[in-house]
Amino acid sequence: MKKYNIGVIPGDGTGPEVVRESVKVLEAVSKKHNFQVDLEYYDLGGDRYLKTGEVLTDSDIEKIKSRDAVLLGAIGHPDVAPGILEKGILLRLRFELDQYINLRPVILYEGVDTPLKDKGPEDIDFVVVRENTEGLYAGGGGFLKKGTPDEIAIQESINTRKGVERCIRFAFEYARKRNKGKKVTLCGKTNVLTFAFDLWERVFYEVAKEYPDIETDYCHVDATCMWMVKNPEFFDVIVTDNMFGDIITDLGAVIQGGMGIAAGGNINPEGVSMYEPIGGSAPKYTGKNVINPLAAIAAGQMMLEQLGEVKAAEDIENAIKKAVKNDIKDLGAGKMGYGTDEVGDLIVSYL
Ligand code: IPM
Ligand code: MN
Repeated sequence: MKKYNIGVIPGDGTGPEVVRESVKVLEAVSKKHNFQVDLEYYDLGGDRYLKTGEVLTDSDIEKIKSRDAVLLGAIGHPDVAPGILEKGILLRLRFELDQYINLRPVILYEGVDTPLKDKGPEDIDFVVVRENTEGLYAGGGGFLKKGTPDEIAIQESINTRKGVERCIRFAFEYARKRNKGKKVTLCGKTNVLTFAFDLWERVFYEVAKEYPDIETDYCHVDATCMWMVKNPEFFDVIVTDNMFGDIITDLGAVIQGGMGIAAGGNINPEGVSMYEPIGGSAPKYTGKNVINPLAAIAAGQMMLEQLGEVKAAEDIENAIKKAVKNDIKDLGAGKMGYGTDEVGDLIVSYL
């Protein structure tokens, strides 16, 4: 029997609750499709940091690197200063495992409410390919004359030819595999960020020459936000840098029904990838059994797809589609008409 070694990082806040449901679904679907998931849990996050001062050790990283894939709940704790855990755990893992793509599908399922007037599932179906190891997330910075009225804060964006090219190439390959319009849109800001996006634009049109079957388009990031709301059907694959990708995928999550359903994959096509609900740790809902686990379940689906368990992944997606169409009232925390654990059970019942 095929066995996959999965690393599990429940993390902070509601992370453990949603991961528990995702694992429930993974175990059920693995039985049905005759494969095994061997789970190794890692205690990472705010609680461990507050107890031991440890954020992420080299030994944690070595263990995680040895897995076939990783499922992560959420990182971020109200008692820890912003940045310590996010940079020390989540971003460090993305960088150390060289997960250079953050793949974030934006799909509206039937029966799910979108705040977009007159838009339905046929209009909202695209994917954002976010560069995940560079940009403002990787740049240095510092202060000049800190604490004085003349203070200057500098924050650099790093864009390497290699990093930009591998990301753009991934987007074109991905567009080829999707059965939508076969279009890649570069989202940038060539009119202001004339160094970074000059490189992005040059590489984009250069790589595009190798994909004559795929249409290309360019949108500034501000206009991208506008079109995502006004005409989301324009998009098939959007490729963009780390910061813009972060921002536009929160907007994407909202138009697909909210953080309760939005999942993403931190992908290293040649290495270990890490899948997560994109919504964060939602501390105020912690331990209340009200948080929506569908995003974490969908993250598990993306993970299985990448591991090659395509049928099992399809089963999970179909179960999610049924649950949101027939049963779950609202995707928001506390409004589902079901507890977190019951949503997991519901998905299992549809497998
Ligand atoms: C995300 C999150 C992270 C990011 C934070 C928690 C560092 O917002 O995965 O989108 O900015 O990448
Ligand atoms: Mn984000």
